[in-house]
Amino acid sequence: MSAQSDIKRLTVPQMRARKGEVPIVSLTAYTTPMARLLDPLVDILLVGDSLGMVVYGLESTLGVTLEMMIAHGQAVMRGSQRACVVVDMPFGTYQESPQIAFRAAARLLAETGAQAVKLEGGAEMADTIAFLTARGVPVMGHVGLTPQAVNVLGGFRTQGRDEGTARRVLTDAEVVATAGAFAVVVEGTVESLAREITTRIPIPTIGIGASPYCDGQVLVVDDLLGVFTDFTPKFVRRYAELGPQITAAVTAYAVDVRQRRFPGPEHCVGVPPGPRVRPAGERTRGDGP
Ligand code: KIV
Repeated sequence: MSAQSDIKRLTVPQMRARKGEVPIVSLTAYTTPMARLLDPLVDILLVGDSLGMVVYGLESTLGVTLEMMIAHGQAVMRGSQRACVVVDMPFGTYQESPQIAFRAAARLLAETGAQAVKLEGGAEMADTIAFLTARGVPVMGHVGLTPQAVNVLGGFRTQGRDEGTARRVLTDAEVVATAGAFAVVVEGTVESLAREITTRIPIPTIGIGASPYCDGQVLVVDDLLGVFTDFTPKFVRRYAELGPQITAAVTAYAVDVRQRRFPGPEHCVGVPPGPRVRPAGERTRGDGP
């Protein structure tokens, strides 16, 4: 019989109840090892479709498929036991109709074991959110800058700079909450708009590029860890510089391999400790041409 863990997963109702309480800590995760590291530290692990860009090097999230989300959702579930896991619905799997959305969401929940799905959009998604939540699928909304609409928005632009778009995003958040979402990501808005949304709607807001007054925060974990060195979005605080550390580590490894300093005797089987014997043919700097 396998040992059962005593650790209980945080639930969707527990996350919903965090409105106005201690802020919800959320990060993206796409793999088992990263989920293992993050699980004890965060409340929500988001298997975001940002994995299309972060893991697969795509230009946008539009090419992400349901199969990709299922595979990474399963990986994150295998690496976690405490965090509430939410999986993104990829572009094209939910916009057509509530029924089609239900089929995709049901696969995501059944095949990964995650607790909830996230989908992008505001008022136009109200019927779908209501349909899903009434049928046992907890939904996290996502308003403001919605990356799957990059072609309609004309790029990854901050939303709510003018009164018209600010009003639209506020209405979107209100409608998503009324439709039954248990929380909503507010992405890429001016700070005052995210703050106003947070005060107006009864469900937790999870900000990214939004406001410290949101009920929680989410970041792409690779951004926070400084894996990418070419570009850091304004809303990211880098808590580590893993990109340069990886470069330094691999540079040292390459030198060691080329100079036959790795593997050492301690990494080999049947080699006694002691001074290293130079294999025949090994050249060092002093050997000349
Ligand atoms: O796909 C994603 O990772 C997201 C978060 C950045 C909110 O939607």
